[in-house]
Amino acid sequence: MSERGPALTERGQVLEERGPGPVRVTLSINGTEHSMEIEPRVSLLDALREHLFLTGAKKGCDQGTCGACTVWVDGTRVLSCLTLAMTCEGREVTTIEGLAEDGELHDMQQAFITEDAFQCGYCTPGQIMSAVALLEEGHAGDDAEIKEWMSGNICRCAAYPHIRAAIRAVRDRA
Ligand code: FES
Ligand code: FES
Repeated sequence: MSERGPALTERGQVLEERGPGPVRVTLSINGTEHSMEIEPRVSLLDALREHLFLTGAKKGCDQGTCGACTVWVDGTRVLSCLTLAMTCEGREVTTIEGLAEDGELHDMQQAFITEDAFQCGYCTPGQIMSAVALLEEGHAGDDAEIKEWMSGNICRCAAYPHIRAAIRAVRDRA
């Protein structure tokens, strides 16, 4: 609404002002540039899922509490539901779709299969993106540390012991 109040149509209906219109944004996702027109308020998660149809990152809560939407921005894990897509211009975004190389699963993806670290699988992309980052960060010294640094990723199926087993397996292989 402007300082003078809402605009009116010829028939006297109130026109809601909806803020800035779409802007053109170019995002580098898994090494490929994608250009799209989005409103500035669009989250990275919605840009990935709704505009690029990369549906690996999941929308659990859309408010930063479940971790299902975890991706990396410049190698650091972020909650894509709380990240504005336009703030990622000029940065490298990595999603679960970008983890496998040349058709080979990442070690962590394979370990989740081997250790039976999921049931419904809804949280799994976020768990895996966090788990790989956790090892990079050096936060997988023991189970207590793994629990603490994976605590942002909720699993409603309570696969936690198996998720920790997968993380230990990859850690101990390194
Ligand atoms: S969907 Fe982002 S934290 Fe739950
Ligand atoms: S495997 Fe179902 S929510 Fe984690």
